[in-house]
Amino acid sequence: MSFWKEAFAVVKQNDPAARHNLEIILTSPGVKALAAHKISHFLWCHHFKLIARMHSQFWRFLTQIEIHPGATIENGVFIDHGSGLVIGETAIVESGVKLFHGVTLGGTGKDNGKRHPSVRRGALISAHAQLLGPIEVGENAKVGASAVVTKDVPARVTVVGIPAKIARVHGGDTPERNRAQLERERHVSFYDHMGGI
Ligand SMILES: CC(C)(COP(=O)(O)OP(=O)(O)OC[C@H]1O[C@@H](n2cnc3c(N)ncnc32)[C@H](O)[C@@H]1OP(=O)(O)O)[C@@H](O)C(=O)NCCC(=O)NCCS
Repeated sequence: MSFWKEAFAVVKQNDPAARHNLEIILTSPGVKALAAHKISHFLWCHHFKLIARMHSQFWRFLTQIEIHPGATIENGVFIDHGSGLVIGETAIVESGVKLFHGVTLGGTGKDNGKRHPSVRRGALISAHAQLLGPIEVGENAKVGASAVVTKDVPARVTVVGIPAKIARVHGGDTPERNRAQLERERHVSFYDHMGGI
């Protein structure tokens, strides 16, 4: 499906207030920011890096959503409200992801290269959640409002709090998964990533 078809479909699916496509184009900062990102990402990938950054800053001014032109964002992402949303250069956001206002997909300042989160299909990142570092947020995971996440989040769980901990494990195809065991695995993989400190 084209960018616009998916953009209209996800807004209508997630926002009961959205009535028709013209209204969505005129009033949804998320759709505008994602459409503008398509252009700035194209410029970035074709080595017009300064123009790409200026273009993305222009749209940041208009939408209050800051998406680095290097970020990889699939079609079918939903941004609700959006103000204060920041998406870093090496972030990956897959189709069906929902992002609310105040979310940061940022770096910790400790990593080089891939240094921003990857958010897999269908994940929900609630308002003001801060996701920091090259972490993975698994498919259909949920991150609670205002959580601070610095470790991977397994698929189909809810994490909440500071630092974010697993609060709920959703059924899906692995109902036997157990919250404490998943939390231990997250801890081990985080310290492996940090070089076994
Ligand atoms: C996390 C969230 C998505 C709910 O996910 P869920 O899988 O349905 O989880 P539950 O509601 O069953 O909550 C699981 C536990 O986490 C707690 N919890 C939920 N959200 C929380 C949060 N943001 N911070 C701290 N604890 C939270 C619940 O109280 C519950 O605790 P309990 O097990 O002791 O009862 C939701 O609570 C949330 O944060 N929504 C915000 C969405 C948003 O940004 N809206 C903005 C609209 S403008």
